[in-house]
Amino acid sequence: MIQTPTLILDTEKLRANAARMQTATDRHRVLLRPHVKTSKSIDVARVLLGDGPAAITVSTLREAEFFLSHGIRDQIYAVGITPNKLDRIFALRDQGADLKIILDNVEAAKAVASACAARGASLPVLIEIDSDGHRGGVRPDQVVELTAIAVSLGRHVELKGVLTHAGGSYAARSEADLRRYARLERDGAVAAANHLRDAGYRIDMVSVGSTPTALFTEDLSGVTEVRAGVYGFFDLVMAGIGVCDTSEIAIGVLASVIAVQPDKGQILIDAGWMALSRDRGTASHPVDQGYGLVCTPDGQPYPDLLVLSANQEHGVVGLRPGSGAPLPPLHVGDLVRILPNHACATAAQHAGYDLWDAASGTIQGHWPRIQGW
Ligand SMILES: Cc1ncc(COP(=O)(O)O)c(C=O)c1O
Repeated sequence: MIQTPTLILDTEKLRANAARMQTATDRHRVLLRPHVKTSKSIDVARVLLGDGPAAITVSTLREAEFFLSHGIRDQIYAVGITPNKLDRIFALRDQGADLKIILDNVEAAKAVASACAARGASLPVLIEIDSDGHRGGVRPDQVVELTAIAVSLGRHVELKGVLTHAGGSYAARSEADLRRYARLERDGAVAAANHLRDAGYRIDMVSVGSTPTALFTEDLSGVTEVRAGVYGFFDLVMAGIGVCDTSEIAIGVLASVIAVQPDKGQILIDAGWMALSRDRGTASHPVDQGYGLVCTPDGQPYPDLLVLSANQEHGVVGLRPGSGAPLPPLHVGDLVRILPNHACATAAQHAGYDLWDAASGTIQGHWPRIQGW
């Protein structure tokens, strides 16, 4: 018997999503460097990499160590570096990882420079660029700051290039918006790279990427690689901004009906926030999907049926406010599939993926995932 709640993965959808992104980036003749933070799984990473170069982006050193142990050496640790991580970074490089780090300020640059000088070792560094005001990075027009960082890195550090992530694109509301964020991302990274070149630095890597911009970009001239992560699974946030259809979402949480309460207009299921995550990424969207969209086990959405609220191990399922749809005729023990708001957050609640076989409606295998930092 299938035990619930459990995270299921439809590998056919995963393969189709991987092919869609590969085609999109091949069109621009750039390297696709999948971000493994979404899946944290070697099996998923193998699908995303296909027979292309084994180059990945990681968000934790735990990921860096795990994927190196599976032979993937070309990695960018794409979170701004802090001095307490440098010993592990050097150890990873000693073990054969071609691990690159990012930073966006003079203080961090000086810390990396002195650690390299103290060891007589070099580290490849990318300067993080803020192309859309979303999070970290130096704005492309902050040329004084940009040069100061490059100067602070000194001669022991190898300045490899620049990196930016158009996180602002998750707030896009139209295709024109998506294309605008893609332009900002490309233009910001290329302008910063050119500024550093003009200042006399050799810049080999111009790394950009997010799933929305990677799929909607029209011009990647001057860019050497694209990073994207959530595209393997997709989720309701991506569907909400028009990047995918809900039928393309490859993961879901399989849950059982605990009780049907027609008087309250609700159905209780055994998936609460512990299984779904607390992510409410669609709350700011025109269509709020609550804690997830409720589907049949094979992934057909019930009209207007959402997880409206979530306790630790209980989900309260009901109709979207204002809906005229009927509650579906579900019974205790029936299975439902909940599509996640944010695939990275929902997957992180689980130790692995049960592989869903659409033809038989059964689970045919398990792929583990890692956790921690
Ligand atoms: C630095 C960086 N690069 C790439 C990505 C991938 O973005 P997405 O998940 O939209 O593909 C992320 C996601 O957060 C990121 O932080």
